[in-house]
Amino acid sequence: MSKDDLAKEGFLDPIISTASCQLLSQGAEARVWSGEFLGRPVILKQRFKKKYRHPVLDKHLNHSRLKQEVRSLLKARKLGIPTPVLYDVELEASTIYMERIAGCSVKELLKKGMSPADRHSLGRKIGQLLATMHDGSLVHGDLTTSNMLVRSDSQDLVMIDFGLSSISGLAEDKAVDLYVLERAFNSAHATSVDMYDAVLEAYKQHSRQWCPTLNKLADVRMRGRKRVMVG
Ligand SMILES: Nc1ncnc2c1ncn2[C@@H]1O[C@H](COP(=O)(O)OP(=O)(O)O)[C@@H](O)[C@H]1O
Ligand SMILES: [Mg+2]
Repeated sequence: MSKDDLAKEGFLDPIISTASCQLLSQGAEARVWSGEFLGRPVILKQRFKKKYRHPVLDKHLNHSRLKQEVRSLLKARKLGIPTPVLYDVELEASTIYMERIAGCSVKELLKKGMSPADRHSLGRKIGQLLATMHDGSLVHGDLTTSNMLVRSDSQDLVMIDFGLSSISGLAEDKAVDLYVLERAFNSAHATSVDMYDAVLEAYKQHSRQWCPTLNKLADVRMRGRKRVMVG
């Protein structure tokens, strides 16, 4: 995308011109670019303007979501959840700069095919991380297999995309988080349901509050099913 195209959409170009970067993904709220920053591989995540929103409201929403994402990224790190290192935040260009993780998403790994043993151990890693995150009152808000990366060197699991996350100690909110992941496994990875079982098994072992959360998960599932039946 050229500088002129960006200007047309009312962007401020970030410090690193996106013209020198490669567009990795275009979501509903943000574009993700891959580039270099001080000689390091970097990811730029830029929230774009929504033309249908009033400009003042749009700027306000953009800024508050960006701040929420940064806050949660840092909170996760404090809790010991591996996340990309935050390099910089540029509010006026609504851009976050972070470490680019060399590796694959869990979604890609599943697509390529994994052995049952590898699925089990990765599922357990996911469950353990979620237990730590939820015990620290951090709810991710968008737990999908695209938002979990595995480093190609150390095989460490890294959580990304805290754009919809929130701080909550409520079992209900944590259960919804788990339910979103359950749906992702059931729909996109029909052959990997065993992996989600490993997630729950490890979650139960590591979360101090697993009991109220898993009870709520049963309620949330029921509601989900009713919604599907009613349409
Ligand atoms: N730090 C990162 N390192 C490597 N890849 C990343 C990183 N952050 C995002 N990506 C890639 O870009 C995609 C979209 O980023 P994400 O933060 O999930 O944005 P969205 O809110 O649009 O889903 C991810 O699924 C992943 O493939
Ligand atoms: Mg994402």
